[in-house]
Amino acid sequence: MILLKNGLVMQDELKKLDILIDDEKIIEIAPDIFGDYEVIDCSGRIIFPGLIDVHVHLREPGFEYKETIKTGSMSAAKGGFTTIMTMPNLKPVPDSVENLKIEMDIINKDSIVNIYPYGAFTKGEKGEELADIDDLAKYVKAISDDGVGVNNLELLDQGMKLVKKNNLVIASHAEDNIYKTAPKGEYLAVEREIKYAIKNDVKYHFCHMSTKESFDFIREAKKNGTEITCEVAPHHLFLNEEMIKGNPNFKMNPPLRSREDMEATINALLDGTADIIASDHAPHSKEEKQREYSKCPNGIIGLETTLPLVYTNLIKTNKASLLDLKRWLVDNPSRIFNLENNEIKVGNNCNLVVIDIDNPHTYSIDEIKSKAQNSPYIGYKLYGWPVLTICNGKIVYQKDGK
Ligand code: DOR
Ligand code: ZN
Ligand code: ZN
Repeated sequence: MILLKNGLVMQDELKKLDILIDDEKIIEIAPDIFGDYEVIDCSGRIIFPGLIDVHVHLREPGFEYKETIKTGSMSAAKGGFTTIMTMPNLKPVPDSVENLKIEMDIINKDSIVNIYPYGAFTKGEKGEELADIDDLAKYVKAISDDGVGVNNLELLDQGMKLVKKNNLVIASHAEDNIYKTAPKGEYLAVEREIKYAIKNDVKYHFCHMSTKESFDFIREAKKNGTEITCEVAPHHLFLNEEMIKGNPNFKMNPPLRSREDMEATINALLDGTADIIASDHAPHSKEEKQREYSKCPNGIIGLETTLPLVYTNLIKTNKASLLDLKRWLVDNPSRIFNLENNEIKVGNNCNLVVIDIDNPHTYSIDEIKSKAQNSPYIGYKLYGWPVLTICNGKIVYQKDGK
């Protein structure tokens, strides 16, 4: 049994409490628990529910040279995430139960955190023919063609009907195929997809929103009864196009936008238009990211730095509270995607992260758990690093391996 002593436990508020863990469960929470247990001193640390990232690329099956379920889940654990959702741009694409099972078998064998794979929206993510959504529904929480926009509106409409029938969520990579990655490519797609989502009354989630206009459309759409939600990524909150300077580790899709768009992204999060922070963890090999800027692939890793970036920039600066942090990284992802809520309470599976808020730490290449190293945040001095992550009662990450 593991006893976490003297931590500041995040429930509805912060309280100094001990937590006793037996097997996978939390069995007691009280001000002073004593006994012959494996004691971990958490004095001065915050104990937070396990974080949830609804937008992660783990590359397996198909692109194991970039990342695997094993290394990606280790990266999640280091970042304090005990629950993640994996995107379907894989080989094979999980567009049928047969293909999805290939991914699920590896998850069951290798993952150290809880993983919920997305099913694809179209066959091979080609945007021509719907995936086997009815069959996939038994195994997945949500459907997505992330990486590409769905531009065949007839297909979008039909797919929405199937997703609605099965009470799933669609996660949209909104990108118009004429304007592509320009701001207009995003917000045009957002505007038209909202119309279809409302028409079909389907739960519709926009991935990685990055322009002021997109947030304006979503803010308006939320006044309607249809459940329209969106996520923002740390890079669109804290980086902008002025910082790119030809560096491949600042290249992703959607790309970094103007300073005004970055500010609109922060405002959308603070005013509740954006519901979730998700990393869009997108690992690529060193060779791929060493190509010149125009030839290197889109994407940066993000699982390990999401919490420290948000803590340092928004919580430590008092722009937002720990309860906001819990809404963006635990409560809203859990509610919108129908996942475990990771609440710290007796009887629940123990999914939690212990966070050091006092000691700044500079992110370095040597500590990365992901197989990839394509992070723009190497050398960033940040606060709010996980020091211990527990998933289903097991220690899945401990700083310095202690
Ligand atoms: O930056 C990105 N990386 N954007 C995407 O749309 C795809 C993702 C990836 O799979 O690498
Ligand atoms: Zn995407
Ligand atoms: Zn993505």
